[in-house]
Amino acid sequence: MSGKVRVGLIGAGFVGNIHARAYRRITDLDLDIAAVAAVPLAQAQELARQYRIADCYDDYRRILDRQDINLVDLCVPNHLHELLAIEAAQAGKHIIVEKPFTGYFGGAGASEPVGATSKRLMLAESLQSADRMIAAAEHARVKLMYAENWLYSPVVQKAARLVAASGGAILEIRAEESHSGSHAAYAKTWQHAGGGALVRLAAHPIGIALYLKEQEGLRREGKPIRVQAVTAEADNLSQLPCFRDAGKWLVADWHDVENWCAVIVTFSDGSRALIQASDIVLGGMKDTLQVYLTNARVDCDMGHSGMLKAYAPDDQTFVNEYIMEKVSTKAGWTYPSVDEEWLLGYPQEMRDFVEAVAFDRAPLSDARLGRKVVEVMYAAYQSAEEGCRVNLL
Ligand SMILES: NC(=O)c1ccc[n+]([C@@H]2O[C@H](COP(=O)([O-])OP(=O)(O)OC[C@H]3O[C@@H](n4cnc5c(N)ncnc54)[C@H](O)[C@@H]3O)[C@@H](O)[C@H]2O)c1
Repeated sequence: MSGKVRVGLIGAGFVGNIHARAYRRITDLDLDIAAVAAVPLAQAQELARQYRIADCYDDYRRILDRQDINLVDLCVPNHLHELLAIEAAQAGKHIIVEKPFTGYFGGAGASEPVGATSKRLMLAESLQSADRMIAAAEHARVKLMYAENWLYSPVVQKAARLVAASGGAILEIRAEESHSGSHAAYAKTWQHAGGGALVRLAAHPIGIALYLKEQEGLRREGKPIRVQAVTAEADNLSQLPCFRDAGKWLVADWHDVENWCAVIVTFSDGSRALIQASDIVLGGMKDTLQVYLTNARVDCDMGHSGMLKAYAPDDQTFVNEYIMEKVSTKAGWTYPSVDEEWLLGYPQEMRDFVEAVAFDRAPLSDARLGRKVVEVMYAAYQSAEEGCRVNLL
């Protein structure tokens, strides 16, 4: 028997819209989006109109006060994740937290720019933040779910099944999320985003690399393979003299965050993951994963499926038709995504979270994974700042 799931959506921006669409694809469970909160209220009202949501607020606490709402979905900027997750847990709601699970944002009285703070301190404090969230959820006996959509991508899930079927050992994972730059205002400042390309983009490939190695360990040795060390570089490449007028195509107004990073994750069995993320890549979203095994190789491309391609000599020919996220022109050959949100796993992710609440079971992507990704990301910042390998075991 499944229970009722009544969702309170907090945040009605880019990802709030994606989540709302994903919930509306679920028609076989007792599910409703009961209310949405956003600032300004007009943003909540617009989302409510589009997705037939009865109530709108500009104060998220109105959602936490509602007795009928049992699942709160946090689609708010990163610096609010901890505060809202803890308040939602205290109100007895199950919680969905977007990536990054949490981070370091400076807090009250932090000196500007926050990005100049010691990364060693950031690593310690962001883990404490994650622990406070997990403790609050455990204390309230509510589910704290981590919205890592890559884990639910049918492309990644098929890849994971092929990896398992091979019976081989993963020697190397190469994974990347890159595009031409975030336009969200909060993404430009450490105070609101907790970092740059590493926390906004690399969070996805890092999460998948950790998941694949954990699963391999469980299959082969009965225990997860863990992260032993992290080595990284991170920088703001739009500050380079050669960047000049690249700002026409690439987002350039970063405040104190990096827009490029490369991370090497060393696992306890000696295998490696090479993670890249950047905001300086043209040509639409780049979401790729390659797994090199002892006896097989698996390559995923979640953005450019190759199922469909189209050509138009004029940028205006397909002006009213969606092609893919962050593509800067519709002229020439394009690769229109047939169902971008499905390929990236959002509907499957929301279904797992709704079912986890309805059937009182664990979700695939949980707070434990969110915390581990936070640890790797901030260890990467420490490595980049100190020019050394950061050991985690
Ligand atoms: N999984 C993914 O692929 C993915 C993609 C983009 C963003 N995200 C994550 O989703 C989160 C939101 O990002 P976004 O791009 O949607 O941001 P956005 O700026 O588009 O939207 C943020 C929303 O939060 C609301 N908000 C801010 N402060 C609020 C408050 N005090 N009370 C109520 N609402 C408040 C705003 O009104 C807005 O609706 C971030 O954590 C981001 O990292 C995930």
